[in-house]
Amino acid sequence: MKILIIGSGGREHAIVWKLSQSPKVTKIFAIPGNPGIAQLAECIELKVDDTEKIIKFVKDEKIDLAIVGPEIPLMNGIVDRFEEEKLLIFGPRKSAAMLEGSKLFAKNFMKRYFIPTAQFNSFTNNEIGNAINYVQSQKYPLVIKADGLAAGKGVVICESFEDCKNTIQDYFVNNIFGEAGKKIVIEEYMQGEEVSLFVLTDGEKYIILPSAQDHKKILDDDKGKNTGGMGAYSPARCLTKQNLDEIEKIIIQPTLLGMKNEGNIYKGCLYVGLMLTNDGPKVVEFNVRFGDPETQVVLPICEFDIADIFYQCANGNLNLIEKTNVDNSKNAVCVICASNGYPDEYEVGKQITGLEQFKTQDNILIFHSGTKNIGNEIVTNGGRVLGITAIGDEKNIHQTINEVYSAVKKINFDGMYYRKDIAKKAILWLNKIN
Ligand code: AMP
Ligand code: GLY
Repeated sequence: MKILIIGSGGREHAIVWKLSQSPKVTKIFAIPGNPGIAQLAECIELKVDDTEKIIKFVKDEKIDLAIVGPEIPLMNGIVDRFEEEKLLIFGPRKSAAMLEGSKLFAKNFMKRYFIPTAQFNSFTNNEIGNAINYVQSQKYPLVIKADGLAAGKGVVICESFEDCKNTIQDYFVNNIFGEAGKKIVIEEYMQGEEVSLFVLTDGEKYIILPSAQDHKKILDDDKGKNTGGMGAYSPARCLTKQNLDEIEKIIIQPTLLGMKNEGNIYKGCLYVGLMLTNDGPKVVEFNVRFGDPETQVVLPICEFDIADIFYQCANGNLNLIEKTNVDNSKNAVCVICASNGYPDEYEVGKQITGLEQFKTQDNILIFHSGTKNIGNEIVTNGGRVLGITAIGDEKNIHQTINEVYSAVKKINFDGMYYRKDIAKKAILWLNKIN
């Protein structure tokens, strides 16, 4: 199989790394890729949203399967165009990608199928008075979300009426998110542990990958601003087998069946963001792609051939996959090394040192997120720069954490920042139940 991966982050690097282990994969291309991906694949300088040029490239190179990393090409309809050209691609069509592209679409969908999620109401920008009356009648905290994509910044947790009013003003009057904020969803605040699950599906059959917990805030102990994700570990300690069975029955199956019955079949990776509340698991959000950095811990502990699964999902034949062994004896922890200042302004172009020494260490993986080659050097080129993953023994999360941090300490660039408490949640949870 010749495979193309579309994207340039740590998530895509982890997918390429996993694909490179498949005996069935003969060649991997990446558009545009990054210096880490370039060690395993041929990187092609095309834009991820230039669908027509990508299609021409796939035809010229006789590529068997394309895999889409980020959400934007999916929402632009890259899958629909590939299908028109009879080319195989892993990902949902534009109409199904609405599960991430519009919060209101996702909430209304869940409501139709009784899929547990936070209670909500929605308003458009010509209903500002109604929105303000509504928040006045509610309990706080309240969560206000822009309907459309807002680069991960469109969710505000409001502690008071004042906060709510200011947020509504920001969305509807100051237009801080433009079109994406012209509709809002206002929802009940849910409390509990947050867990990410990836479901790979051909629209009917599905495979659930090991669970993960992301660390979205910039500072230790989940303080400070939201980021794209500062680290993750897998499997999530707080998710029991009983939770998972329930999630499968009341969330995953009705979602896939509901989409199919509405003539909007969902193929690809469905990212189910969950809150484990006292009333049971509830959906926080759907994403229509793999998560970043969760992929950097989930794929390293999957034992199966991911190329086969991608291929059969795209082909509508997931039933042909017989075994998907997840090695329950392993865990993985990923720490993101970020540029000082992220998620606000930061400098780029800082030389990165220490990367070479891990080439022979099987349990440490270095995934590139925001890096660039300048001459023989690798320099920083983004807010999130590297994801360092350690793979360890599931019985000893302490050791995996120690290993990842001792690897992180061997890497350096000017202004490198990382959280010191990734996967501490796992230990706290263990202490709580013991
Ligand atoms: P979203 O973009 O919908 O994933 O929201 C970003 C983050 O805000 C989530 O990962 C949660 O940590 C938090 N969040 C979103 N909705 C809620 C909610 N209803 N209750 C509590 N936290 C939420
Ligand atoms: N890690 C969160 C996301 O990928 O959306």
